[in-house]
Amino acid sequence: MPLAASTPRLRRLHPWPIRIMHWINAAVMLIMITSGWGIYDDDVIIRGLHFSQTFRLGDWAAPSLLWHFAGMWFLAINGAAYLTYGIVTGRLRERLLPIRPRDVLESIKDTLQFRIAHDDLTVYNAVQKILYIVVILAGISQVVTGLAIWKPVQFAGFVALLGGFQSARVIHFIGMAVIVGFLIVHVALSLLVPRTLLAMLTGGPTLAPRHPPTQAAQS
Ligand code: HEM
Repeated sequence: MPLAASTPRLRRLHPWPIRIMHWINAAVMLIMITSGWGIYDDDVIIRGLHFSQTFRLGDWAAPSLLWHFAGMWFLAINGAAYLTYGIVTGRLRERLLPIRPRDVLESIKDTLQFRIAHDDLTVYNAVQKILYIVVILAGISQVVTGLAIWKPVQFAGFVALLGGFQSARVIHFIGMAVIVGFLIVHVALSLLVPRTLLAMLTGGPTLAPRHPPTQAAQS
């Protein structure tokens, strides 16, 4: 068998589908967050907490809702594509697992000592892995709780499971806060270690094939 036919193709750290989905997600998340703030301001959850017009997408609740409803399709479809791609190719598991308690302690120690240089871009540290898993779960939660708030009659059983309409709203709000908190840390770190940003734009270093060529293929 010719070698070229059986040699697995080299992989990039961030293959092009991941890069496209990541940047679509970043743009759509910004739309969802800022339009969400516009909707929130019409009927606040925390008394006294308002979002400045500067950071709101839409002049008032109605246009903000239009942005939110337009963005949700991109968020849900792009998110489903990211999860499907990650599960089918085994990439999600390879990048985000395992997380060992020893590694968590080690990377907390490194972070506290500002050792965030990230020498090997191809390995996420344990805290990074946890943050990515948390934000992925928060994204899923936003889509699901958003669906409950959007169609409370059709999903009455699910709304009841969440503790009612108002508590579904609060969970949706908490999900937003988790994502905004993640984004502040995530963007700050990627600016502090610009090599990671470049890798998310260009694909980054090449990785060893997932299944090394067999003896037969090599000879
Ligand atoms: C302008 C905003 C953003 C910037 C500049 C940015 C930057 C980056 C960079 C540089 C990486 C690679 C990290 C590394 O290799 O160490 C990355 C990965 C990642 N980012 Fe972002 N990001 C942004 C927005 C977001 C948003 C909004 C989310 C989700 C809410 C997100 C979720 C993720 C996840 C889950 C990964 C890991 C991707 C994977 O390997 O599958 N990012 N981001």
